Amino acid sequence: MKIVLAYSGGLDTSVLVSWLKQHYNAEIITFAADVGQEEELDGLAEKAKATGASAHYTVNLVEEFASDFIYPMMRGNALYENQYYLGTSIARPLIAKAHIAIARKEGADAVAHGATGKGNDQVRFELTYAALAPDLKIISPWRMAEFRKQFPGRTEMIEYCREQNINVEASASKPYSMDRNLLHISYEAGILEDPWFDPTTKENKDMFKLTVDPVDAPDEEEYVELEFEKGDCVAVNGDKLSPGEALMTLNKLAGKHGIGRVDIVENRFVGMKSRGVYETPGGTILLHARKQMETLTLDRDLEHLRDSLIPKYSELVYNGFWYAPEREALQAFFDKSQECVSGIIRLKLYKGNITTVGRKSPNSLYDENIASMEGVLSDYNPDDATGFIRLQGLRLRARAKAQGIPDAG
Ligand code: ARG
Ligand code: SIN
Repeated sequence: MKIVLAYSGGLDTSVLVSWLKQHYNAEIITFAADVGQEEELDGLAEKAKATGASAHYTVNLVEEFASDFIYPMMRGNALYENQYYLGTSIARPLIAKAHIAIARKEGADAVAHGATGKGNDQVRFELTYAALAPDLKIISPWRMAEFRKQFPGRTEMIEYCREQNINVEASASKPYSMDRNLLHISYEAGILEDPWFDPTTKENKDMFKLTVDPVDAPDEEEYVELEFEKGDCVAVNGDKLSPGEALMTLNKLAGKHGIGRVDIVENRFVGMKSRGVYETPGGTILLHARKQMETLTLDRDLEHLRDSLIPKYSELVYNGFWYAPEREALQAFFDKSQECVSGIIRLKLYKGNITTVGRKSPNSLYDENIASMEGVLSDYNPDDATGFIRLQGLRLRARAKAQGIPDAG
C-alpha cells in the first residue's frame, strides 16, 4: 500500500509518518503545500525521509492560491457570518487538489491528513477528495479509535518519537493553534478557547504576527491607491502586480497600520461554536476597496441581488464546497457581475482604520448632473417622481383605509 500524507514537519505529522507506515505496513510519501505560510519549508524532505518517508514533495502554490482561489472568492465579496475573511477555508481545496495530484503521480492508494476530528478542515479536505478523486481511499487518523487511544496527548507523542528515534525539535508548543498562509493567520484552541481571554494585553499581544496593535501604529496616516480591472486588484500605488504580489504588498501596508484583526465566535460546519482570532491584513484592505469600487460601477439591482448571495457563497466556501456545482454557478454569476468594476480607489490608512477618500472609474454610473440638486437635469425629470411616489404609496393608503392607521407612537 502507498499513502501520501499531508505533512508539516511538526510533532503531529511526524508521528503520523511512522504510525501510518507501521499500522498499514505501507510506503509513505509526504507532501507539503507552500501557500505563503513563510514557515521553514527547507529541510522538510530530509526530515520526512529521516522519519521514514520514501519520498517528499513540497509544492509552491502561492500564485495559484492568489489568482485561482483568493481573487475569485473576493469577486464574491465573501465574508463568513459577516466577520471571517475565510483565510483557512479557501486554502483547503487547493491543498487537497495538490495532494491528489501527488497521489496520482505516485500511483498511491490513499491520501492521509492530520486534521482533527472536531473541525472544519477535515470536512474541507475530504469534500475536495470526494469531488476530484472519488476512488482514492481517505485516511484520517484523528478519527481512528486506535490512534486516539495510543495518543491521548502531546506527551505520548513525544514519548513515541523518542522510542522510534524520530527527531522532533523540542520546540516549545504554543498555547494555541495557528494556521498561516498568504491571506491570513488564524489563532484558535488552547488558551483562546476561553471567550473572555484577551489576546491584546501587554503580556499576550506578541501572539500577533502580521499586524501591529493599532495603538502602536504610526501617528501619521498613509494614502494608498488600488487599481481594479473587472473586480481584481491589478496595481497598488501605480505598480502593476500579480495577485500574489498585490496581497504581499497590501499585507505589509495593512500590518504596519494595525489593520485586519478580528476576534470572533463562529459556527463550525460540524455544529459547535468556536472562538477564533484572525489577522487578514491585505485581504481586509482589498475587500474594503473592492466594495467601494462597486459602489461607483455596479448597477443597483445587480448589486442588491449579488449582496443577497454573499451569505450563501461564503457558507459554501467555509463548509468546503469549493468544487460543488452551486459554488461554480454562483462564481459564474459573480464573475459576470464584475465586468464593469474597474477604476481606482484611494484610501487613507490610520491606526487600524481604512477611510475611503477618492474613487474614479471609466465605467462610473455616478452622474453629477443627475445627482446634483442644481445641475442641468438630464434623464431625470422631477415630474416623473410625482407618479412614482403616488404609485409606491397606493398600497399604504389602501391599508390605512381598510385596516386603520398603524400605531406610529
Ligand atoms: N476556524 C477557521 C476555519 O475554520 C480556522 C481554522 C484553522 N485551522 C487550523 N488547522 N488551525 O476556517
Ligand atoms: C482542526 O480541527 O483540525 C482545526 C480546526 C478546524 O478545522 O476547524
